Amino acid sequence: MTSPADADRTQPTFFEAVGGEPTFRRLVAEFYAGIAADPLLRPMYPEEDLGPATERMTLFLMQYWGGPNTYSAQRGHPRLRMRHAPFRIGPAERDAWLRNMRRAVDTLDLPPDLDTTLWDYLERAAYFMVNVMEDPAVH
Ligand code: HEM
Repeated sequence: MTSPADADRTQPTFFEAVGGEPTFRRLVAEFYAGIAADPLLRPMYPEEDLGPATERMTLFLMQYWGGPNTYSAQRGHPRLRMRHAPFRIGPAERDAWLRNMRRAVDTLDLPPDLDTTLWDYLERAAYFMVNVMEDPAVH
């Protein structure tokens, strides 16, 4: 006899479905390789070494999608909008972030349904992080 709990365990998490930790490591390494070369976004990152920021983003995304909770064990509750408050994130920064992330997601070559699930989240999260509604040039 199988119980509903057994059935649940046969459903992989999104984290597992996309290939687990190695996939998230590849995604975020690609993303930060783009950030390193981005003239608008690179100056926003306070640290010279992007390694620690790469690790934080990797652990956050792994946790969000059902992987280990290492991010919160190290950093506490994500509170991402609050953590982004020190940075000026307008439409231009959001769009540059999404451009880098789209390129990184493309390198994973995920099945379309998984790609769409991941991208819908990242796009919504990027719009949510905007904390300056207008670009200065508009005024
Ligand atoms: C919309 C444009 C965005 C910009 C310009 C931006 C910029 C930044 C910057 C400058 C940092 C500080 C680097 C660090 O210390 O880690 C940071 C941290 C972080 N960002 Fe973003 N970000 C954006 C959107 C997002 C989105 C959509 C997510 C999640 C899906 C995200 C997740 C994170 C995480 C997890 C951290 C580390 C938080 C911590 O534990 O301190 N960011 N971001």
